[in-house]
Amino acid sequence: MSTYHKVLTRKEFPHKANMERNGGYRVAIAGTGAYVPPKRLTNRDLEKMVDTTDEWITKRTGIKERRIVEDGVASSDLASKAAMRALKDAKVSPKDVQLIITSTITPDSLFPSTSCYVQKHIGAKNAGAFDVLAACAGFIYALSIGENYVRAGMVDNVLVIGAETLSKVTDYTDRSTCILFGDGAGAVLLRRAKGKHCSEVLSTHLGADGKHTDVLTLPAGGSKIPSTTKSIKERLHYIKFRGREVFKLAITNLTKIMRKTIDSSDYTVDDFSLFILHQSNFRIIEATMERLHIPPEKTFFNIDKYGNTSSASIPIALDEVKKSGRLKPGDLVLLAAFGGGLTWSSSIIRW
Ligand code: ACO
Repeated sequence: MSTYHKVLTRKEFPHKANMERNGGYRVAIAGTGAYVPPKRLTNRDLEKMVDTTDEWITKRTGIKERRIVEDGVASSDLASKAAMRALKDAKVSPKDVQLIITSTITPDSLFPSTSCYVQKHIGAKNAGAFDVLAACAGFIYALSIGENYVRAGMVDNVLVIGAETLSKVTDYTDRSTCILFGDGAGAVLLRRAKGKHCSEVLSTHLGADGKHTDVLTLPAGGSKIPSTTKSIKERLHYIKFRGREVFKLAITNLTKIMRKTIDSSDYTVDDFSLFILHQSNFRIIEATMERLHIPPEKTFFNIDKYGNTSSASIPIALDEVKKSGRLKPGDLVLLAAFGGGLTWSSSIIRW
């Protein structure tokens, strides 16, 4: 499945007729927020846990450390902190939020949804709440749903969150996976755009290929392999992947979706000020940028600090970029992510 609708040019945007032609209201990113837990797990710490070295991890992934929650902390706890920061940034009260959409592969429980826990924690008593699961591509999937609710005029305020506690599903005896993952959350508040200048979601694009369901998976705990003593003994309740295969598929597919997203718009690669890719591996991002002939200074990295935080990586990056003041109003940003499923997603944002 793939969705590529027309992206409006800068000139077309201010005109109501053009907005209607595009099928609805303009969608603003009114606020961003992020939260990572304070506890650091460094490469040096991992050297004491598995047969690895700081040098190997840094060279192969770009990761130096990741944040890890304490026992008893769930994804909704991180999500709620990020959400409150996004609401504060947008100057919107929790009671005015009409919809909460959380992307996560580490929900507090299979049900109720993590979004329901967030609703309770932040007091968003007037909101509908549900979760989205599309692994590392999930935040932009959630963004796409929120975008279209606002674009259609069904709601005015949507909280879109990416939150993970991947440390809970990481096997710290497996050196090929445990070096990669970290915990964290990020959120954006989407609102019907008012006025000419505001950060705006111009488009979102989604894709998937179910024939690769087995290359990247958390096998047990669902209806196919329910949690049993046997599944736990076989360590099937932890993330498994075929690293080298995922690595190649990530570069090929990210390159394809980024090219397709740009081609479906009226912009060229040079029109974009920044490319924010899911922080999975420094080498994946670097190779993708090289294939697209984009200079490395036009991309964003924070993988050294947080590792791969799956759904949380894009909204954490958006918040860091906003706080850094790196972009000016009107700059174009391309978001792109790739994950288990396989799933992929992209979005064009005007800052
Ligand atoms: N320390 C030292 N050596 C290691 C480690 C480690 N932590 N892990 C693996 N090795 C060894 C391997 O055993 C292998 O040894 P061998 O040659 O003697 O067999 C050697 O290093 C090379 O192994 P590769 O797996 O080929 O290493 P590669 O360069 O591919 O890097 C990595 C591995 C980092 C996992 C890479 O494949 C990768 O990033 N893949 C993508 C994974 C990913 O990001 N998935 C994200 C999706 S998560 C989601 O969607 C929820």
